[in-house]
Amino acid sequence: IQAEKGGFKHFMLKEIYEQPRAVRDTTLGRISLDTGKIFLDEMQITADDFRRFEQVYITACGTSWHAGLAAKFMLERLAKIRVEVDYASEYRYRDPLVGPNDLTILITQSGETADTIAAQRESKAKGSKTLAVCNVVGSMIAREAAGTVYTHAGPEIGVASTKAFTAQLTALFLITLHMAEVRGKISYDDARKYMEELAQLPGKLEHVLKLDAETEELAKKYHRASDFLFLGRGIHYPIALEGALKLKEISYIHAEGYPAGEMKHGPNALIDENLPVVIIATQDTRDANSVLKYEKTISNLQEVKARSGTVIAVATEGDPHIADHADHVVFLPEVPELLSPILEIVPLQLLAYHIAVRRGCDVDQPRNLAKSVTVE
Ligand code: G6P
Repeated sequence: IQAEKGGFKHFMLKEIYEQPRAVRDTTLGRISLDTGKIFLDEMQITADDFRRFEQVYITACGTSWHAGLAAKFMLERLAKIRVEVDYASEYRYRDPLVGPNDLTILITQSGETADTIAAQRESKAKGSKTLAVCNVVGSMIAREAAGTVYTHAGPEIGVASTKAFTAQLTALFLITLHMAEVRGKISYDDARKYMEELAQLPGKLEHVLKLDAETEELAKKYHRASDFLFLGRGIHYPIALEGALKLKEISYIHAEGYPAGEMKHGPNALIDENLPVVIIATQDTRDANSVLKYEKTISNLQEVKARSGTVIAVATEGDPHIADHADHVVFLPEVPELLSPILEIVPLQLLAYHIAVRRGCDVDQPRNLAKSVTVE
């Protein structure tokens, strides 16, 4: 088993380090920088179908649901299609208004999660085509779907999902680009720019992994905290949720993810010197909307500081001001905002990992949790 861990202390750490490869393999052969075209796996969902769809329903559980929430921002912004995101366990019991003109996307690492299988059957029964984003070839959800875009993350052993998540975000971005293209919502030049950025992501991820030692220092400082807050806006909000989930799952520290702008409607009351607050405050300086959200997030950050909270900021390299506002800053390379979640989650995974190790937790097999939940 030690050999399987490839020299790493835990599967989770090994899998965190496999993310550049997982993202590269998930992109491989699916983009063409020459033609600007996306190649998804063969499926019974045609370009005409993708043009015809009026709405997308995304359903999933756990970490996969967070990927779905991020995909909503991708699809609405680039493919200009309405998206609803549901927990699979909620979707199936709310008599969803899904129909033949809607696409249902199921996101699942294992392809065997009982609630997600049930959600898929509900959508199919109502005439919707289903597209799976799945990591396990031949799994139940992949077999029952009209199409599957496989994530090529490789087998994931750690119960807390890491590389499957970044591979899901990559696959969902490819689906978004494909839909944007066939629906005529993106120019050739813009599609090509995104593809170039996608091709550069694995290299940037390698760079982000160098934050390992820095996050270990943070863990040393904060592993005794009893609560953590994770904040983000827009597409960074699902990453705040996923950062909180990672910490909960493996360190048993209570953690909450929150939309940064909602703080004043309740959670601000929690802030004191004992509450570390992780704020995702990245920006794409070429994107006015991203900069605007960044500025709002900075004012949220100042509110936390004014209430003597401790701030750990995740920011973009070259940001000259962030260090004035935060107690600690981890810097990430600049990428288009819709791709930023793929980088942002990495320091949060590492932080959760190092905190859990310091607390003596069983990182790969957290108590009460299963890798694949095949009961409802
Ligand atoms: C379990 C795992 C999570 C995972 C969730 C959904 O709770 O512990 O890591 O995100 O199931 O699993 P799936 O295989 O459908 O992505």
